[in-house]
Amino acid sequence: MHPLEQLREDALRDIEAARDAKSLESVRVKYLGKTGSISEWGEQMKTLGKEERPAVGKLLNQARTAITAALEQCGEKVRAESESEALSTIDLSLPGTPHEIGALHPLTQMWQRSIEIFRRMGFALADGPDIEDEWHCFDALNTPPEHPARTEQDTFYLADGRLLRTHTSTVQIRTMESVPPPIRVIAPGAAYRNEELNATHSPQFHQIEGLYVDENVSVADLKGELEFFMRELFGLDTEVQFRPHFFPFTEPSLEVYVRSKALKGGEQWIEVAGCGIVHPAVFEAVNKGRGDDAYDPERWSGYAFGLGMDRLAMILFDIPDIRLFAQNDLRFLRQFA
Ligand code: PHE
Repeated sequence: MHPLEQLREDALRDIEAARDAKSLESVRVKYLGKTGSISEWGEQMKTLGKEERPAVGKLLNQARTAITAALEQCGEKVRAESESEALSTIDLSLPGTPHEIGALHPLTQMWQRSIEIFRRMGFALADGPDIEDEWHCFDALNTPPEHPARTEQDTFYLADGRLLRTHTSTVQIRTMESVPPPIRVIAPGAAYRNEELNATHSPQFHQIEGLYVDENVSVADLKGELEFFMRELFGLDTEVQFRPHFFPFTEPSLEVYVRSKALKGGEQWIEVAGCGIVHPAVFEAVNKGRGDDAYDPERWSGYAFGLGMDRLAMILFDIPDIRLFAQNDLRFLRQFA
């Protein structure tokens, strides 16, 4: 028998004897590895004479093919065996590990519902930081330095002079500074005021700001669209009332009240938003910030609104106390899952 035939028989016997993946691997290394016997034979081929080479080469190829095939076949078998062994120790009749399914916070649900309605009305989403400067929170919004909202009694100031925004109207300015008209955006976010925490007031609360700037925007647009929004949100029975008010950055300014028999608290008017026609001084300030006159108040007009999200959620879900939103009490939160 040629030594190569012997080698092949030895290899096949070793493979047959291997019981697991590890011993199979050492057999592979022994015969097919870089310094394995097949490779060594390959080296030796070079030293053979021309006449010998074809016959030996053929034997070498046959041995390599046979060993490779046997390794593969045996590997398959060993793998199947170890898998079925692993499975045999699993008791499929045992109960599984339950995963607790989370749910969205009622305020998040409120945001999603509102954003969905505004999207249908053609509003895009805008965003701005919670930590702001006085320009975006007050000056550009036509709120003079002596305005009471700016005092420390109402506003949280940081040591460096920046502040926590007291309303999301900051995003009006930021959006207009970066995009020319026309504009149609909403900006959901948190706002902060230095207020006593009680059932209806919280130092951190949530708003959706809205801004629409185009040619010939009127109070009729503002009223029609907010009324549509409220009725989409609270139902077609909802009555919406606009009462005159004052904001430095709108003229005229209005407060929005809703009432619906379908809601808890039925007959009562509840204030849910502030709104108005964008004051020309706001456009002038934006132009100053931009360094151009893209918001020429002679050509462009707009309306803005700020919806109190906590208030809307309290009405819609009949929640008696604003503090519940932040207390993380599962007995409360689970009711909205
Ligand atoms: N920023 C006002 C507030 O927080 C609401 C508002 C927004 C009023 C836009 C008019 C226009 O009370």
